[in-house]
Amino acid sequence: MLIAPSLLSCDFSKFAEEIIRADKAGADIMHLDVMDGHFVPNLTFGAPVIKKLRHATEKPFDVHLMISEPHRYINDFADAGADIISFHTECDSDIGETLSLIEARGVKPALAIKPNTPAEAVLPYLDRLYMVLVMTVEPGFGGQSFMPDMMDKVRFLRQEINDRGLRTLIEVDGGIAESTISTAAQAGVDICVAGTAVFGADDAQKAIARLKELCL
Ligand code: DX5
Ligand code: ZN
Repeated sequence: MLIAPSLLSCDFSKFAEEIIRADKAGADIMHLDVMDGHFVPNLTFGAPVIKKLRHATEKPFDVHLMISEPHRYINDFADAGADIISFHTECDSDIGETLSLIEARGVKPALAIKPNTPAEAVLPYLDRLYMVLVMTVEPGFGGQSFMPDMMDKVRFLRQEINDRGLRTLIEVDGGIAESTISTAAQAGVDICVAGTAVFGADDAQKAIARLKELCL
């Protein structure tokens, strides 16, 4: 299992130091939540902030766009150093065109689905995706409870990915903790985003090690 700490739960007054702390603690990927106050009822940060943080680690930047019109900002996030860009099937942009913009920049494309969106929504694009992000909470805030029902979508997608002979990764985001991560692992998840479970822990290194251990 790969662990992607969500920087949403870090101390933003020490953003770069928090990334370095997560890196040293054994994070595999840095998960950066971009919110526009429109697609979700919360605001975070955009491409200029990500660009300034890029030097803090060599670990991949997984940029999760919770914004209404992702196609308008793909080049900005690519310039900022995103390695993976996830956007939502529920957004207002054309999905195929937005994927093309990401592909044209050599960034790994991913599609995200909210809890009420069926897994079928990503099927027409599956062959083009580096990753599918299955939300296990309503996007917008950290610290919510994991929705185990979403594992049906993970199992369905895992089967579909295998049947098509693809290497698409499955990521889950929201409510991952010591009590929930094995459920995700058993369903076939490759990457778990974890905000509170990593940055809320006294020892981030122990927290990440424990989460990984629970998947074995
Ligand atoms: C929610 C964000 C998540 C969030 C997860 O909209 O996409 O990445 O930070 O936080 P936890 O792990 O605390 O549920
Ligand atoms: Zn996220």
